[in-house]
Amino acid sequence: MNTEISTPLDELTQRLSATPRGARLARRLTAAQLETWGHPHGTEVNDTAQHLVAELAANAVTHGRVLGRDFELRLLLLPENTLRVEVSDPRGDRRLRFAHREDDERGRGLILVTLLADTWGVMERDVGKTVWAEIGLG
Ligand SMILES: Nc1ncnc2c1ncn2[C@@H]1O[C@H](COP(=O)(O)OP(=O)(O)O)[C@@H](O)[C@H]1O
Ligand SMILES: [Mg+2]
Repeated sequence: MNTEISTPLDELTQRLSATPRGARLARRLTAAQLETWGHPHGTEVNDTAQHLVAELAANAVTHGRVLGRDFELRLLLLPENTLRVEVSDPRGDRRLRFAHREDDERGRGLILVTLLADTWGVMERDVGKTVWAEIGLG
């Protein structure tokens, strides 16, 4: 698998507490950063980025949480007119899984990510993992 990414034109990296508040903050920071990058609140790109980060951050603070450890949000503005969002958590031992029953209330977050993102995936880190997603900026 090719894990190379182009040098970003700009980026935001922020550590956040692994709490519902931290996850909400991740979403708000994303909205504000997208505004700075020319995609104001209410635009499709801004909405999509918020949804993606909200799902990935919610997963990081629930399934990917280690007590007392932060998670990390990164937003990368890539030269190919692409936004890459990365959410890293400290749990390397837990794998992502898809819901396999239609009536399963769980497992909808990653389905949404699959629908919204152009591509997404998981990278292992020295400690933990990074779940990433990319969308075109139109
Ligand atoms: N960051 C993560 N760390 C560990 N496991 C995860 C992470 N994100 C998702 N998962 C696993 O993948 C499953 C599916 O995630 P998701 O579709 O968001 O459903 P939900 O969060 O409602 O359970 C989760 O139930 C969990 O088992
Ligand atoms: Mg989820």
